[in-house]
Amino acid sequence: MSLSSKHLLGIKDLTAKDIELIFSTADHFKEVLRRPIKKVPSLRDITIVNLFYENSTRTRISFELAEKRLGADTINFTASGSSVSKGETLIDTVNNILSMKVDMVVMRHSASGAPHFLSNHIDAAIINAGDGTNEHPTQGLLDAYSIREKHKTFKGRKVAILGDIMHSRVALSNIYCLKKLGAEVTVAGPPTLIPQYIDALGVNVTYDIREALQWCDVANVLRIQLERQNMPLFSSLREYSLYYGVNKALLDSLDKEITIMHPGPINRGVELSSDAADSHHSIILNQVENGVAIRMAVLYLLAGKKGLE
Ligand code: CP
Repeated sequence: MSLSSKHLLGIKDLTAKDIELIFSTADHFKEVLRRPIKKVPSLRDITIVNLFYENSTRTRISFELAEKRLGADTINFTASGSSVSKGETLIDTVNNILSMKVDMVVMRHSASGAPHFLSNHIDAAIINAGDGTNEHPTQGLLDAYSIREKHKTFKGRKVAILGDIMHSRVALSNIYCLKKLGAEVTVAGPPTLIPQYIDALGVNVTYDIREALQWCDVANVLRIQLERQNMPLFSSLREYSLYYGVNKALLDSLDKEITIMHPGPINRGVELSSDAADSHHSIILNQVENGVAIRMAVLYLLAGKKGLE
């Protein structure tokens, strides 16, 4: 009952067996979260630091809640207001925190590869909570877990990932996860927002959103990440919404019923309209709910790897 890796740096490093173990462990914790007392003492001797060098709402709260539900002690660090502004390095910051007898690190950073770099310098288990445009493994896991909950199986399941693929760590983690589980994946969006050789990952590519929606069982709609775009990659948000946005009228015009997902935060009226985001097609809030169980599972399994369970 342990993962093949000491850290969770990305889904790229996980096996299908690892992912299935995380899902079956999350099933157990989901049942715990339905109880009147939503807490177990599995990690009561563990202290975890949530190290956020980049903004977050869902991931930070979800990790903190997962840690508390497991009985762990938690410390929350955000770069703003810390000694990072005085020039302290990432390694010095983490080593100082670890010297206070902290066991695990959950880290979000704007630099791709930051958690991988840190893993070469510290002994504690590291969970990547999103690194730049690389991976967001717990998001990929909770997305796939939510698809499993709704559609049961992955073999031959058709999942379209729509929008800003270029700047999305969610896209890469979803692709790795879904492909390892046997799903078919299509990415769709404007040519300027789709990496040139992404088909090497075994995904289909189309620039036609309607074609992707007509093909899929599930559409995961991604946020336009304007903060990561150094140059204009489409004419205007209005034009983007017109040609690449998903709305209820478009969903109703398909000859099938599909499931709509979004990792959040949503740019309402840009990549996804409110009438689609809040419709019966949407499992967006189920994704958020499942995030707590998935993060409990990952924390529990990685703590077990250290013999601290
Ligand atoms: N999905 C996600 O990573 O959201 P936050 O940036 O709010 O954590």
